[in-house]
Amino acid sequence: MTEILQRKADHIDLVLKQRVETAAQASPWDKIQLTHNALPEKDVLNFDLTSEFLGKQLRRPFLISSMTGGPLKAEKINAHLAEAAQDLGIAMGVGSQRVALLSAGNGGLTGHLRRWAPDIPLYANLGAAQLRNDFSLSDVQRAIDMIEADALIIHLNCLQELMQEDGDTDWRGLLNAIETVARFLDVPVVAKEVGMGISSSTAIRLVDAGVQAIDVAGKGGTNFIQVEASRTANRRLSALGEVFRDWGISTPDAVQSVRASLPHIPIIASGGIRHGLDAAKAIKLGANVVAQAGPVLQAATESTQAVLDHFEFIESALRIGLACSDD
Ligand SMILES: Cc1cc2nc3c(=O)[nH]c(=O)nc-3n(C[C@H](O)[C@H](O)[C@H](O)COP(=O)(O)O)c2cc1C
Repeated sequence: MTEILQRKADHIDLVLKQRVETAAQASPWDKIQLTHNALPEKDVLNFDLTSEFLGKQLRRPFLISSMTGGPLKAEKINAHLAEAAQDLGIAMGVGSQRVALLSAGNGGLTGHLRRWAPDIPLYANLGAAQLRNDFSLSDVQRAIDMIEADALIIHLNCLQELMQEDGDTDWRGLLNAIETVARFLDVPVVAKEVGMGISSSTAIRLVDAGVQAIDVAGKGGTNFIQVEASRTANRRLSALGEVFRDWGISTPDAVQSVRASLPHIPIIASGGIRHGLDAAKAIKLGANVVAQAGPVLQAATESTQAVLDHFEFIESALRIGLACSDD
């Protein structure tokens, strides 16, 4: 348990202190160009951004992506994020609840979170690999109940696990495990990657198994191959990290191909969304909701107001990008 907690705390520190992003210089979003619309016919800074996502209203099409840390750090971060999400009317995913399920340390993932965020869609989070080995269906239900979640996000982090000394390397039978969970729960299941992307063929398998939304969590932002390589003392693993540092499907490519294959599935675009113009591009490519994790972490360590300021800036550029481009 101490090892898991230390790893989660390292993730936060590394993302805050180092550039562990695939596209620190060149982002795949720069290759996507929207066509300027000289006659937007919209009140650009005030038009309605509300939408429905997984049966709930969002005032803005944003999700704060799942992040964990050691319990002490995570508690403050989660409180700032939840309070800001409530104010903005956006969705929030909590970080992996593995530690919270296995121990008394809950990282702020209790009914407390609902006190900060009584109305917003709040999403639980567990790793696919743990569904088969560590948790029963009643544990999964406990993760939902613990935060009164509106959906469960299951993360698919195969490459990240393969870069860890004690990671889960046997990924057999996990589609079945996801299907069992999706049939059992009475809230929707969302599948996400953690920065390597989800292809259209994987998305189709997941949707056939009962998954109701896909967060592509593609390449271009926080890179967990680099994160794990920076924290390991194991030379084989750090060399393996070098070999695979560019692995993955970029977020724009993943959004476009999943949308082309599954025209009606709700899609979350995440992974390397730097600002509101990237968010506008993601929506124009077919995403319903846009999400960030690493880019909002610094603000989340500071205050609720810092998180609000962060999203206010994102929203301005999103509005301009959406209104001032052709459909
Ligand atoms: C500090 C940190 C912790 C994370 N922990 C989790 C986690 O517990 N569960 C999960 O599904 N994703 C986790 N992620 C991955 C993010 O949800 C997201 O998919 C990834 O960082 C790519 O988005 P970004 O480029 O906006 O950071 C974490 C990301 C960060 C930065």
